[in-house]
Amino acid sequence: MLNTSLNKSLQILFALLVLVIGISLVMPNAYAADDQSSKQQAAKTSDADLWRAVKAGEPGYTTDTGLEANVLINKAGNEGKELRNTYLKPAIVLAVLGVFSAFLVFYLVNGPSKLSHGFSGKLLERWTKADILRHWIMAITCLTLMLTGIFIMLGRHFIAPYVGEGLWAGIIATSKFIHDWSGPIFIVSWLMCVIKWMPLQTFKLYDLKWFLVVGGYINFGPFKGKHPDSGFANAGEKMWFWTLVIFGLLLSISGLMLVLPNLDLPREASIVALLVHGVSAAVLIAFTIVHIWMATVLSEGGMESMVSGYCDENWAIQHHNLWYDEIKANGSLKYKK
Ligand code: HEM
Repeated sequence: MLNTSLNKSLQILFALLVLVIGISLVMPNAYAADDQSSKQQAAKTSDADLWRAVKAGEPGYTTDTGLEANVLINKAGNEGKELRNTYLKPAIVLAVLGVFSAFLVFYLVNGPSKLSHGFSGKLLERWTKADILRHWIMAITCLTLMLTGIFIMLGRHFIAPYVGEGLWAGIIATSKFIHDWSGPIFIVSWLMCVIKWMPLQTFKLYDLKWFLVVGGYINFGPFKGKHPDSGFANAGEKMWFWTLVIFGLLLSISGLMLVLPNLDLPREASIVALLVHGVSAAVLIAFTIVHIWMATVLSEGGMESMVSGYCDENWAIQHHNLWYDEIKANGSLKYKK
């Protein structure tokens, strides 16, 4: 009897011992596993938070003292890129292809504006040699900037897929180099044209009538044969001039902000400059295409003035009657000898 109860007690004791040893063996592991998973959990949360903060453009810590060097991802940069891709690129394509095609259709339907009385053969001075030089330096650098600018912004879509990587790298590096260096020449010539020509470009009341009859360039309907009053510059030329003043200024300032790294601008300012630069370029590309159409194709006899500096007397009477009357009256009319 005593033996049996001793045996039972020993068995219980043994079972308890096994239980205690078992628990003591398992428990630390359970704690360790718990500890590890919570550590991992914590690490994961802080990584996610970290990258969320980086993407949101929050500053971190670095020993680099450069401006915004502690910001890994600039939010404004990504937003600016989005705006450029969504709106600016299509705007530039529209400025080039849309305006060109619209004027082509207009030319095919309407034809050029001819001189009602033909060429007189008598040439009178319109632009000085210095004016012609200024105009062509500005025009050539401006067209170079437009072409290289279009390569830089859109070349990856319409050149890169069709040429090898090496050639593409060469094209883009050359475009960038030419773009950077023709910029200052454009700015100086633009400034010289703006200062010299500004007095000729003030809007007058009679310019309203010019707009109402579309300058007399429409060859049909109620507009046919209309020759609205115009001074040295007509209302369309004045609009072109002031567009060039405003957007040329924006283009020049934003271009300088982008090309001079020593300015050490905050990245937000650089992005704004990039967008302003693109919008100004789109406007000027559209107007330049109109200007070239008008000068070369749509206005008979117009091109001569910017080549030789002289225009036909009948062209002056038809397109710039008030200017013609004025120089005739004050004796400053100079015929080509
Ligand atoms: C192939 C390109 C170009 C051609 C054939 C051309 C032709 C002409 C002609 C013929 C005139 C004289 C108009 C007149 O006497 O009434 C003129 C004036 C002018 N051009 Fe151009 N041009 C070209 C490019 C440019 C460019 C790229 C710009 C601007 C950056 C520009 C700006 C001007 C300005 C501001 C005037 C004076 C405004 C006015 O007409 O009163 N031109 N151009």
